[in-house]
Amino acid sequence: MIAREGLVEIEVPRISGEKGPAKSGGVFYNRAMVFNRDITIALLLSQNFRGTCLDGMGASGVRGLRIAREVGCPVVINDWSAEAVEWIKKNARRNALEVEITRRNVNALLHERKFDYVDIDPYGSPAPYLPAAVAGVRAGGILGITATDTAVLFGTYARKCLRRYFARNHRGPYSREMGVRILLASVVREAARLDMGIRPLLSFSHDHYVRVFVRLERGAAKADECVESIKEMEWEGKIYGPLWTGDLHDVEVVHRLNPPDYMESAETIRELRDIWANENIFGFYDTVSIAAAMGVDIPPIRHVISSLRDAGYRAHRTHFCPTGIKTDAPREAVLRAVTGESISGSD
Ligand SMILES: C[S@@+](CC[C@H](N)C(=O)[O-])C[C@H]1O[C@@H](n2cnc3c(N)ncnc32)[C@H](O)[C@@H]1O
Repeated sequence: MIAREGLVEIEVPRISGEKGPAKSGGVFYNRAMVFNRDITIALLLSQNFRGTCLDGMGASGVRGLRIAREVGCPVVINDWSAEAVEWIKKNARRNALEVEITRRNVNALLHERKFDYVDIDPYGSPAPYLPAAVAGVRAGGILGITATDTAVLFGTYARKCLRRYFARNHRGPYSREMGVRILLASVVREAARLDMGIRPLLSFSHDHYVRVFVRLERGAAKADECVESIKEMEWEGKIYGPLWTGDLHDVEVVHRLNPPDYMESAETIRELRDIWANENIFGFYDTVSIAAAMGVDIPPIRHVISSLRDAGYRAHRTHFCPTGIKTDAPREAVLRAVTGESISGSD
């Protein structure tokens, strides 16, 4: 079967639109991950990236081949499956792209070689790959990680979340943001062991997965600073974490995201860019949950945002929840905005 994505064309034995951790093995091309690959390329383009990339878990090779063609940097595509390597070779030839193709356990490869960008895109949890992934990124380089084990990361399987990520999450409107922050904390722990810190460039949840891009920064002081920002946090009556309490995105990077028009997700990325640019506040308030708790009708979100802004606060939508508002207003002011009371001068 032939699939076209970005500026490449690939052949695969199976095309899927599967959301969630894949249940079966075998090489396949997942349409549900086009946005994930588009944003990866848009981010590398925004950095004028020229270093060496590792697509550590290549499958059909689509991600690495797109990076080679669309970013134009040297790429290594790896997969431990012999079948996958055959498809990657075929697809590299099909697109006339010169890439290095390796058949290794990615954990071994990352302890032997370093790269300027490493992409970890496993079936399910990235937790078993984090120590090697951090070790295999050159200081100053970028690590991109996908997690599809969202039932764990978002707290549906609370004990498993503790085992895999050493953190507590709770199902509900806040689980997505907290899950992203829990994953970032796991990356911080691995980086700190190597006297490195992280700078999140972009962190989000989308459909059935979480994706984070972080820059690895060398230095014990940087590592200390990152470790300090891992805390347990109380939010709307529940304790979450320990999790990353720092910024989710580098706003400069977000502003520079400029997806080429040929990308299928160009419009979605542009829309999200404006939301991501204002998300560096911890937590948000879900207007639906607050209205339900207060026994009032659900107000239009834009009204709540306007009244908070009119009262002099920052207030923005968040990609984590369509009815959520990120704001620096005190909780009391948010409750009043939801119930339609005046909040001017309330602080
Ligand atoms: C979810 S797929 C990757 C999809 C691909 N990155 C894309 O964007 O289409 C995961 C791949 O990782 C490979 N894999 C799993 N564990 C691995 C390991 N320890 N080392 C190398 N490859 C591994 C599997 O063979 C599979 O092809």
